[in-house]
Amino acid sequence: MNLQATGLIMHCRAGFESEVGAEVLALCGRHDITGVVHGKPDSALVRFALAKPCDWAHLLEAVPFNDCVFARERFAWMGSISDLPEQDRAGVIVNHLVALYAKTPLRFGRMSCEFADTNEAKEMSGFLRRFAPHLEKALAKKGMLAMKAEAPTLHLFFETSSACDFGLSMPDDASPWPMGIAHLRMPIGAPSRSTLKMSEAFFALMSETERASTLRAGLKAVDLGAAPGGWTLQFAQRGVRVTAIDNGPLAQSVLDTGLVEHVRADGFTWRPKQRVDWMVCDMVEQPARVAALIADWFVTGRCRRSIFNLKLPMKKRYAEVEKCRALISARLDDEGLSHVMRMRHLYHDREEITVYLALV
Ligand SMILES: C[S@@+](CC[C@H](N)C(=O)[O-])C[C@H]1O[C@@H](n2cnc3c(N)ncnc32)[C@H](O)[C@@H]1O
Repeated sequence: MNLQATGLIMHCRAGFESEVGAEVLALCGRHDITGVVHGKPDSALVRFALAKPCDWAHLLEAVPFNDCVFARERFAWMGSISDLPEQDRAGVIVNHLVALYAKTPLRFGRMSCEFADTNEAKEMSGFLRRFAPHLEKALAKKGMLAMKAEAPTLHLFFETSSACDFGLSMPDDASPWPMGIAHLRMPIGAPSRSTLKMSEAFFALMSETERASTLRAGLKAVDLGAAPGGWTLQFAQRGVRVTAIDNGPLAQSVLDTGLVEHVRADGFTWRPKQRVDWMVCDMVEQPARVAALIADWFVTGRCRRSIFNLKLPMKKRYAEVEKCRALISARLDDEGLSHVMRMRHLYHDREEITVYLALV
């Protein structure tokens, strides 16, 4: 099935368009795929227009979602439809897609109507909530929807209600949430909103198998810079025992889990007496200093996996991330420690990214 993509469309937090541009150029560059980046500042959306069209599956393989840091969601851009008539937008979109794909084996597993995550574009969300069910019904009627979880997702991005860009992604190579926007509930007893960041990280950066085997009763974690305890609570609620390091106070609701020991100490110098399963770190510090600390815990055998934040500088954010990635990889490689490292600017992140690092 050789279906040609004209580029990629990527969602991000408003203000991070140039980082998305830098990363897509770097990822495509590894495969000699060239093109031009278009991303208006603060638009929360980046388009990468290919110099020449290429097979959509090949393009997505060249830019695996797990390798994207600043793109919250991305899909192969297959085309655009303009001048949608107010009376029959769904009919025009469906006819367009039927003309393109009805004679191919392509059927969509799911449909996602999308808009940019900016205040200006918020009004689109109301329109799309009403419009999406009509469109889905019309697609189903034409036999374009397959009831298969593994079939490609159809993305329709609306900048206005009269035009859309459409494209494809594979469900196992995409964000778990439409547009990468994680709507998560605050757990009972949560002392800080940053608890949502850890809960998002579990789903955005780890597979179901990884979660099942490493977030369970009987395991041990250390949380560096733990107060007031939002991250610690995520582990304790899954039965993991946590040593929480911070000179600041922990919330009573966190201590009441009975699984948390609070140690008032400096997270940069404190070390556990025995190896632990997890070390997590949310200390606000220079990213390179945090990266060096994380690498040190791994190469000295103190933990097997970690989730940590890297606070981003005001400028050269992409370069800083790559510097920290290289620093950690080099130290672990030097010790012969094979590992996976996944980095993402999560929906709940602001001026930082979240990293999952694990020995394999
Ligand atoms: C962003 S807050 C952590 C929030 C926490 N992850 C949560 O979910 O509630 C950063 C914490 O790091 C602590 N911190 C900063 N430097 C530290 C250090 N050198 N040693 C221990 N804690 C430190 C601060 O006291 C602060 O409580």
